[in-house]
Amino acid sequence: MRKTAKNQNIDTLNTEAAPEPALMVGVQLRSGLDSRFSLDDSLRELELLGETAGLEIVGEVTQTLPMPNSRTYVGRGKLEEIKLLAEELDAKIILFDDELSPRHQRELEKELGNGKRVIDRTALILDIFAQHADTREGMLQVELAQYRYRLPRLTGAWTHLVRQTGGASGRTGGVGGVGLRGPGETQLEVDRREIKKKIVKLEEELDKVREHRNRHRQQRRKSHIPIVALVGYTNAGKSTLLNRLTNTDIYVADQLFATLDPTTRQLELPSGETVLLTDTVGFIQKLPTDLVAAFRATLEEIVEADLLVHLVDASHSNAQSQRLTVLETLEEIGAADIPILTVYNKIDLLSQAALNDLRGFADPDAVMISAKTGEGLNELAEAIAVGTYQAFTHVRVKLPYKEGRLVSMMHEKGHVREIQHLEDGILIDGMLPRQLLAFFEAYRE
Ligand code: GTP
Repeated sequence: MRKTAKNQNIDTLNTEAAPEPALMVGVQLRSGLDSRFSLDDSLRELELLGETAGLEIVGEVTQTLPMPNSRTYVGRGKLEEIKLLAEELDAKIILFDDELSPRHQRELEKELGNGKRVIDRTALILDIFAQHADTREGMLQVELAQYRYRLPRLTGAWTHLVRQTGGASGRTGGVGGVGLRGPGETQLEVDRREIKKKIVKLEEELDKVREHRNRHRQQRRKSHIPIVALVGYTNAGKSTLLNRLTNTDIYVADQLFATLDPTTRQLELPSGETVLLTDTVGFIQKLPTDLVAAFRATLEEIVEADLLVHLVDASHSNAQSQRLTVLETLEEIGAADIPILTVYNKIDLLSQAALNDLRGFADPDAVMISAKTGEGLNELAEAIAVGTYQAFTHVRVKLPYKEGRLVSMMHEKGHVREIQHLEDGILIDGMLPRQLLAFFEAYRE
């Protein structure tokens, strides 16, 4: 069964009703011809995103352009084609594969007329995020990202729509109610002012929630248990794997972005050691940077991890492009230094020949698994143990003040969990790469 947003303030497409027919529009810009994902790959992904959001894709129109038309994004002739096809297929929604500027969106809706709604990839991703936000923090993040997206796009028609559906403005019964209007202000100005106020309020609320989360994270750090973050392209199977490994029942669905909030579980390794395994939001190409920023908290979980388990859907025709997109996003968020264990999932869907090819191509440390059948999970648990416990070891040492060199080594090469400056030395508790242990032997507590 689908999950729906529990927060009435979050606006989503109506997923309970029959799927809404939508026509996809993809533009191949000449500047993007060498991009990793072809126009067709990108449209197949958009189709899946659309279905996840409750749309039925009834057709598609494509165009190659040197640059977008400044008014209508696509050229005039193409616009006519879209208009005719949308009428013929009875598509109320026109779904663009790229982020449209507020002007493009306005002009397109005006030109297409007849009540057509123009939605872009960003709005769609936001909508899916809204459906899957589960914690208070996730909901606040989505609401904030939606308001930020909407602010420059407000038009009379849009606010009217928002008020009718009781969507993002629902909490106060609609922005810009008549009583709120100041002298000489248009409805639009009132709406903008109200939305700006809401953005400030949401930012304040989020700060408070994050402070609380930070305190939790510090406590977790003190527990000395290594943190392993599961990362991967959307739909790679992260939640399935977490469920399988920890026997919990986290939401799993063949939809994009089923997981929006990080979920952390304790995992006992066969070696008897324990790690904290954390599920994170899936990555996707063309995820707008401010949207990435909106999910800062989720991504912070990644940056703080001791090991990243990078799950790749080995059965996907674009597996390697997806893998590179994830690596790039990790770099963007400052997680490039954390050790990565590459794990190819869904091998139950591969033929023996394809599996052999993958083994030949993949990095020798990569692990092949099926989260569904359980194949390869023991090997994965071992690799996690090696990546966390066997590479690092827990030490508690009291270093004399004159051993500044060792204090620096501990900070630079290890993980300092606790440090106390005592009269007779510096007491440090933390994790250290095994090969450096000999330097500290004399000072162990
Ligand atoms: P996001 O929340 O979008 O980031 O997805 P996710 O990476 O958490 O993926 P999820 O666990 O929701 O799995 C996506 C789909 O892949 C579901 O339909 C799973 O049943 C399916 N799946 C996961 N692992 C395997 C596997 O090993 N084999 C097969 N055949 N299907 C799998």
